[in-house]
Amino acid sequence: MPDNSPKDITGYCEPWSLRAGEEITLFSSSHSPGPAKLSLVRIHCGDPTSYGPGFSVEEIASDLPSRVELADQLLRPGSYATIDLQGLCATEQVELSFSVLATRPQEPQTLAWLETSKGHLAIVLDSGLICADLLGTLTPLRSQPLANRRWYELTFSVDIVLGQCTATVETKPSASPARDLLESECEPMVFDVPAGNRDFVRLIFGGTPTGGFFDGRNGHPKLRADNTMLEWDFSKEMASTRMIEVSGNKRHGTLHQLPARGVTGPTWDNSHQRWTDEPSHWNAVHFHKDDLYDAAWAPTAVLRLPTGLPSGIYAFRVMSERGDGSVQEDNVPFFVRPAEGAPTADVALLMSSATYIAYANHRMLFEGADFIPRKNRLRPEHEYVRNHPEVGRSMYEKHSDGSGVMFSSRRRPVLHLRPGADGWNFTPDTDINAFLGHVGVAHDIIGDEDLHQDGFTALAPYRVIVTGSHPEYWSTAMLDGLEEWQRSGGRLIYLGGNGFYWRVAFSDDWPGAMELRRAEDGVRNWQTAAGENYHAFTGEYGGMWRRNGRAPNELVGVGFAAQGFGKAIHYDVNPASRTSRAAWIWDGVTDDEGRIGTSGLGGGAAGQELDRYDTRLGSPEHAVVLASATNFGPDMIRTKEEFAGSVDYPTPDPYVRADIVFFETPAGGAVFSVGSISWFGALARNGFDNDIANMTANVVRRFADPEPFVYETNTPYPRED
Ligand SMILES: [Fe+2]
Repeated sequence: MPDNSPKDITGYCEPWSLRAGEEITLFSSSHSPGPAKLSLVRIHCGDPTSYGPGFSVEEIASDLPSRVELADQLLRPGSYATIDLQGLCATEQVELSFSVLATRPQEPQTLAWLETSKGHLAIVLDSGLICADLLGTLTPLRSQPLANRRWYELTFSVDIVLGQCTATVETKPSASPARDLLESECEPMVFDVPAGNRDFVRLIFGGTPTGGFFDGRNGHPKLRADNTMLEWDFSKEMASTRMIEVSGNKRHGTLHQLPARGVTGPTWDNSHQRWTDEPSHWNAVHFHKDDLYDAAWAPTAVLRLPTGLPSGIYAFRVMSERGDGSVQEDNVPFFVRPAEGAPTADVALLMSSATYIAYANHRMLFEGADFIPRKNRLRPEHEYVRNHPEVGRSMYEKHSDGSGVMFSSRRRPVLHLRPGADGWNFTPDTDINAFLGHVGVAHDIIGDEDLHQDGFTALAPYRVIVTGSHPEYWSTAMLDGLEEWQRSGGRLIYLGGNGFYWRVAFSDDWPGAMELRRAEDGVRNWQTAAGENYHAFTGEYGGMWRRNGRAPNELVGVGFAAQGFGKAIHYDVNPASRTSRAAWIWDGVTDDEGRIGTSGLGGGAAGQELDRYDTRLGSPEHAVVLASATNFGPDMIRTKEEFAGSVDYPTPDPYVRADIVFFETPAGGAVFSVGSISWFGALARNGFDNDIANMTANVVRRFADPEPFVYETNTPYPRED
């Protein structure tokens, strides 16, 4: 079991999910460099609390080196763009122009860096003033500070025969006549530069040769060297790492640490909302000093997994002894599918790896959120995130300039993906893994990214898919794959709440990264900016699947209804369900005067985030509602998307409800959904012998049985429950 001393060792692996027989690389680092023991472990249960079934990790023999040397590897956040200009030269004229919008204009930072054989010209912000920095000498380009979040056009015309640069800073009228009044006209600034021919080296936007150093946007960049015109367009190949040069000279740039694209540029005038309709309005990129896509550490070890390694949740375990004799430990989890072509189990647990990426290094436990109180006592993993902001942010935070974090990556230490880490939601999902082990029906492990990449094929071998406690983030390919698998007879057990909620996108060019637009509505810690509701990676409209016409209710019978992190409660059994066609789910399940799930993490099986059965949102009419939880405290509030024009709703609110449902799907398939994140925390009570565990076990066993589920479509209304 992990100790509670401050963490020294962190790491990540690439990839997160792979097949037995494939290769995985570990990247580790320690703030106390030195030798460490390395081993492969299998995680049966990563939950050390008394609500779980017990922490259970098993060491597995492997070809890993038993000892490795850990260095203190640094993280260098900050996104920027580089263009290699070697071979380009000028004998008369150089002109550099671009648009800029600063989001923290008072911070010292570097907007651009042009390096030639005569040294470099940097354009920097110094105390809010935009300045040319020539070999360390700062020349303010206008006396008025740059306004926050306003576009300016910068032009630098250099006569290299005379050794003179003329710089202009201009701004166009905005949507606010009053704010435009504040902008003064400014005369061009003329200053001396070294005379003579230029051999170009490189151009950097958003930073310096040492990395990213700017919060804000760059748009429409151009560089002219005598008669050679270079022009870049950020709206081209938005899903790629490239910054496309469009004048035919093929001087494409490279983006580093995943700055945001699909953001509005200086010419956006709100006449279009979708960037694919008029890409020129989105010719811009947003750099952040805290973007971190790839830690790019030196590898610590490479392991080819044995072909016969059973599918499961595994981890690299790194242990080292400190000077004071205490032992430091880090476990870097990953998910193993059966080898290609190898037999599979009938059941698979779908690890919510897209959701883990969304929550990667989230700060809610110590910073709080409007619906989450701060915790006083933190586990070492979360303390590490607090003390080391360089590990980057999650999609639950804003960047330091206030813009929402739209991109998150797993190619960096992800501290809450650790056995024992609190909250959403790897550790709870290992409780479900342990429960499935207890039921005694063999199961494999697959990850969301497998489903995204392989679609239906990833699910096809399985009769039963079990979800984690909070499968919230889904790409189109993931949802399509699940839907196709359901149509072919797949049986889905959804053991969580607030699932299938946000649309996300992936790009093959940025492996391990995920994009999210928190568009229009929904329970969210930030909101997309105007004109930025469409993903850069795919061009798809972002936001909730419900607003995209694919409410979770359609696939799983329930959808997000309410959230509250106070007390979890019980469900009330629907008596009619005990004699319905779903009565088998109740076999051997004793209720407590009509109640089930009366204890568990937080006080009951229904809590944190709830899903409701609702035919208006697409829940199938033939579903049997087995039980419902309704009697919540005032902290449990209906979701934001279900508020109309007023907050004056009846108490208790009929929309605030968790429903357990069962229904048949085509080709002999079925769905069982529990409507609550807290379900996992009620499974392990009394050695898995309790109402919640017993009914879940009934479902797992019956769903694993090949006998088809058949629903007679002429069953008359009203429904039998
Ligand atoms: Fe969530």
